Amino acid sequence: MSKRYIRHAAELVTCKGRTAKRGKEMSDIGLIHDGAVIIEDDKITAVGTTEELDRIVKDSPEYEVIDATGKAVMPGFVDSHTHFLFGGYRADEFGWRLKGDSYMSIMERGGGINATVVPTRNASVEDFVALGLERMNRMLEFGVTTVEGKSGYGMDHDTEIRMLEAYKKLNDSHPVDVVSTFLGPHSVLPEWKGKEREFLDYMLTEVMPEVKEKGLAEFADIFTEKGVFDVPDSEYYLTKAAEMGFKLKVHADEITPGFGASEMAARVGAFSADHLLKASDEGIRMMAEGRTISTVLPLTAFCLREPYAPARKMIDSGCAVAMASDLNPGSCFSNSIPLMIATGCIYMNMSIEEVITAMTINGAAAVDRADRIGSIEEGKQADIIFLKFPSIQYLPYHTGVNLVETVIKSGKTVYHKEW
Ligand code: NIG
Ligand code: FE
Repeated sequence: MSKRYIRHAAELVTCKGRTAKRGKEMSDIGLIHDGAVIIEDDKITAVGTTEELDRIVKDSPEYEVIDATGKAVMPGFVDSHTHFLFGGYRADEFGWRLKGDSYMSIMERGGGINATVVPTRNASVEDFVALGLERMNRMLEFGVTTVEGKSGYGMDHDTEIRMLEAYKKLNDSHPVDVVSTFLGPHSVLPEWKGKEREFLDYMLTEVMPEVKEKGLAEFADIFTEKGVFDVPDSEYYLTKAAEMGFKLKVHADEITPGFGASEMAARVGAFSADHLLKASDEGIRMMAEGRTISTVLPLTAFCLREPYAPARKMIDSGCAVAMASDLNPGSCFSNSIPLMIATGCIYMNMSIEEVITAMTINGAAAVDRADRIGSIEEGKQADIIFLKFPSIQYLPYHTGVNLVETVIKSGKTVYHKEW
């Protein structure tokens, strides 16, 4: 058995909890000064002050002692919304948007998600795995220890299955854990225009049973948006997906105000409604009262030059807010954790404590893993990061700079940076 003992953490952020934190609870990150953690194999077995845990460990030689003097120590980040497998890139679209084109106008003239479909359909599982490993190495450097990844750039049987098989291989071959989501209804290809219900039935009958049977995805997601899938079609698909045993997520209220997608997500009991730039008061109320987590994706708003989701209002209304990157080749080719922290604290009026909760325990809850990850407490998987500086206050203050020095994943040190 491997036994490791972290002691003298200047600040130990525990984020203790086994469910999502809502409203005011999001400010409580369970900070311990001069903190200590005992790890046995892949699990955390004790958390406290150095003085308390020294009494347990005493001078036992079997413990490998890790000195965290001068460092803040916290749970690994959970990036609960990404599309990190795709073929090709769309740098040209980014340039067009800088000149004034809108995301939807590019989509309407054949760009956008549909433009990623051809290079994605041409990619093999091996191609996806090679790309995925590179991208996951970058995640690890940012301190991400669990990532959610969506299919959705194939939109046909074979490619959707290949994408999900690649996510599975990546989960098995890289320290970062992958949670897979089926996003077959990601957009409407020209051949399905006007036949959205038929397309959803094709996904539900021809693709999703195999996804389920092979255990390739835990969640099902859909892009509910004007000109993509409307609310009744989305609700139809999500209800059937839930009957098949999928947990639900929704791309909700990203572009069109008053579309009713977050209300629908709460109605169907989705684990999360994501984006929410244009969420209505009623949608916010329903998420606060139900179990649906409100996931904000500030890097997408930043890249699209759109106003940020009303995270402050959501927290003040009692919502459980999670924050994720949305890494994808179009609306947001970034998974910069430092930039997310900066936008959250500087522009969305969230405190650093709320941002940390949104990216750890609430991210874990958004992928239904709050009982296993997302906090530093007894019984949880030992996914722990060390920062270069002694306080979490440096995260927004040293703006846009990656402060992660060490990453421990399932009890093992998998990344270390010499400064
Ligand atoms: O979450 N909004 C829909 N889907 C992605 C964008 C994907 C793309 O542009 O390729 C999103 O922003
Ligand atoms: Fe997305």
